[in-house]
Amino acid sequence: MSATVEVDVHLVEADRAAAMAHDVRVGLKATPKVLPPVWFYDEAGSILFDEITRLPEYYPTRAEHAILEARSAEIAHRTGATTLVELGSGTSEKTRLLLDALAGRGDLERFVPLDVSEEVLRGAADDISRAYDLPVHAVVGDFHRHLRELPREGRRLVAFLGGTIGNFHPGQRRKFLAELDAAMDHDEWLLLGTDLVKDEARLVAAYDDAQGVTAEFNRNVLRVINNELGGDFDPDAFEHVALWDPDNSWIEMRLRSRRDQHVRVADLDLEVDFAAGEELQTEISTKFTPEGVREVLWDGGFVVEETWTDPAGDFQLTLARPWC
Ligand code: SAH
Ligand code: AVI
Repeated sequence: MSATVEVDVHLVEADRAAAMAHDVRVGLKATPKVLPPVWFYDEAGSILFDEITRLPEYYPTRAEHAILEARSAEIAHRTGATTLVELGSGTSEKTRLLLDALAGRGDLERFVPLDVSEEVLRGAADDISRAYDLPVHAVVGDFHRHLRELPREGRRLVAFLGGTIGNFHPGQRRKFLAELDAAMDHDEWLLLGTDLVKDEARLVAAYDDAQGVTAEFNRNVLRVINNELGGDFDPDAFEHVALWDPDNSWIEMRLRSRRDQHVRVADLDLEVDFAAGEELQTEISTKFTPEGVREVLWDGGFVVEETWTDPAGDFQLTLARPWC
């Protein structure tokens, strides 16, 4: 008999619609206008993100893959984890390196991926369960709201890869780490991927690629609003913008209106005007120093046990544990 896939859905369609409605209503009425990055990831957005990870300019995925290739056996040995939890798991492609190492030790009992994107999550859960003959307990949820719903079975290693913590504003990051800390036992482990500060030109190119895939990913948030809330955005009427903000140490993605325009979001009975040149903020992607990662983790209740970077020093993986 093959291993089971169990899926807990904490974000049913009605919750997703209500949360999106709230973010769109508040964000499009704010000055400057802003939308959170979570709404990039419908099925089309997840496919676009996957394409981004293979772009020549987008180094983070390859760099993190290289670290995992070199260090997964050590991480498996060090943590002795029987449950691998993954937050914002997406396709869990790189995660297979960790699963290989943990399964190779013979004591891996389950995989627990959590993601907001249900189709991609279910696909990855089925593939991994089949490939590893491993029980998978998937959680459809929002990592800003549902960490306490994570199953607690086994000795857990919680992986948060890809540099996704960089997409959080500092206040969100503090709250997230405090909630994660509260959801973990003192003998469990956190494996955190963070992108590192580097040359501005490389950073900007990674978020403004020559083929325009990131631009389409950015505009996808408008298509999601059109499809799910009856919006009438013309995505081509917005230009993709990627800027490096050295004061905040983050890349900022924006959509700049190419002309004066009026947008209606029918399901919300919402009318919004954009002036020519007006910008809508869609994502930040924070780049850290190694010391910055240590401080952020310490403030969030975690002590760093080990750090690894790729040979070029582009990306960092940090193994940490709750400090009390
Ligand atoms: N971990 C993968 C994917 C990173 S892309 C990697 O390293 O390549 C970011 C992932 O986080 C996507 O799969 C997206 O669906 C998910 N995500 C974004 N916002 C989320 C939220 N608020 N709660 C849960 N998952 C979220
Ligand atoms: C998911 N996250 C870490 C990506 C990043 O690099 O900030 C999302 C992304 N946005 C544009 N390109 C990739």
